Amino acid sequence: MGIILHQFKLHNIAIEVVDSKQEMGIRAAEIIANKIIKKPNIVLGLSTGSTPVPVYSELISYYSDGVISFKDVKTFNLDEYYPIDPSNSQSYQYTMRRDLFSHIDIPIENIHFPDCLSHSPVEASLNYEVLIEKSGGIDLLLGGIGHNTHIAFNEPPAQSDSRTRLIELSDETRRINSRFFETIEKVPKYAITMGLGTILDAKEIILCAFGAAKSEAIYQALFEKPNPNVPGAYLQNHQNCRFILDQAAASKIL
Ligand code: GLP
Repeated sequence: MGIILHQFKLHNIAIEVVDSKQEMGIRAAEIIANKIIKKPNIVLGLSTGSTPVPVYSELISYYSDGVISFKDVKTFNLDEYYPIDPSNSQSYQYTMRRDLFSHIDIPIENIHFPDCLSHSPVEASLNYEVLIEKSGGIDLLLGGIGHNTHIAFNEPPAQSDSRTRLIELSDETRRINSRFFETIEKVPKYAITMGLGTILDAKEIILCAFGAAKSEAIYQALFEKPNPNVPGAYLQNHQNCRFILDQAAASKIL
């Protein structure tokens, strides 16, 4: 069980501060596993990047120990580069297979990503919204946060009612994400992302963050007035949102 060092509420957001990124993973996975036990056909919104990796490792352990099954779980990833081939090792589809899907019993047809090989990103985005709606909406969304408080790839300025769409990545995001690519030129210039409106429609949101590099983004998400230049601050308006932070990410709010 995850050990929570500090627990408090800001706006509507339940904040939990834990000791380390491993504890962050343990705590978030504990909540998600309990939800899967209660609702085996839960619809999950999942993110990529380095933040959710410790959560996925813990979920894999729950699965290997026979505590949970993903056979009826449906997943919708928050975003994907555009265009990108799913076999590209930097695609989010590839990293999700590597970090979670290939280790659990989720049927392939239950896994969803925006179609990032589609010739029409507009159509691919609309189809994604329809699929989410047909699944009954996202029950629980696991997110991370970018340096500029972007959630998924909702770069500022981002409207709170935005839906899934093609976006151009900021130079800063491409520079930061280039750590996963051979060169910055290889980082795609575009992505298809769920909109903030799509994300805020999730019935429950868990946002995880670890490391001092995230402390300013966490501070802004919690203390700036929600506005398009601070997309993460719109989470303040959600009715069922929890931040799970390690001490370093929480350092500016404690
Ligand atoms: C990326 C992703 C987001 C992620 C964020 C933080 O650009 N599109 O979904 O939450 O940036 O990434 P990381 O977890 O690696 O810090």
